[in-house]
Amino acid sequence: DKDRRIATIASTIRVIPDFPKPGILFQDITTLLLDVKAFKDTIDLFVERYKDKDISVVADWLDISGSDDILLKRNPVFIAGYPVPTALTSPCLGVAFAFSIEARGFIFGPPIALAIGAKFVPIRKPKKLPGEVISEEYSLEYGSDIMEMHIGAVQPRERALVIDDLIATGGTLAAAIRLLERVGAEVVECACVIELPELQGRKRLGDKPLFILVSAV
Ligand code: PRP
Repeated sequence: DKDRRIATIASTIRVIPDFPKPGILFQDITTLLLDVKAFKDTIDLFVERYKDKDISVVADWLDISGSDDILLKRNPVFIAGYPVPTALTSPCLGVAFAFSIEARGFIFGPPIALAIGAKFVPIRKPKKLPGEVISEEYSLEYGSDIMEMHIGAVQPRERALVIDDLIATGGTLAAAIRLLERVGAEVVECACVIELPELQGRKRLGDKPLFILVSAV
């Protein structure tokens, strides 16, 4: 069933040659979004991977927010935004926050965050966020760019999932990981709908796991 859903998702992604410039095969996810079932299956597949199996047994994050130090000492692992007694966590994947990257990452990040009960934190292009920001420069094929995140959106030792639509060279995700680690977050995993494996972007993520649905060859 999972393979069938992934095959359908892959079939809805339109490939446009020579966009935005000659030689590039553009992976267009707007056609995936037109297919209601494929879009829902995409979100569901991520949610199935990251949703806590048994969060009803734990305290509500909101009841004890503002006491992060005590919280972290008592409950060092989080599942879907909830602190979980360590004994219950293994081998679950703890996710306290979902981050995603402008602009196409924003299509997938928020519904996944809502469904797993995690906070959503946008990572944006420069001069878009109104509050105080922390910035990270990253290299593009030609030149470089900067991404920004609000200071205070994440506290040290919080566990994070980073979501984007696509990994190509891996420069964007690698910069997002650096940004999050600079504020002390622990990046548990990166998740993308599409990987372009030929560009070997995974290598730039170091030891961070990458979960993808579709490998575009
Ligand atoms: C695309 C894509 C990823 C990034 C991947 O974003 O959405 O964020 O490129 O490339 P990389 O792995 O080589 O870093 P783009 O910069 O086109 O911005 P957009 O999402 O705002 O269109």
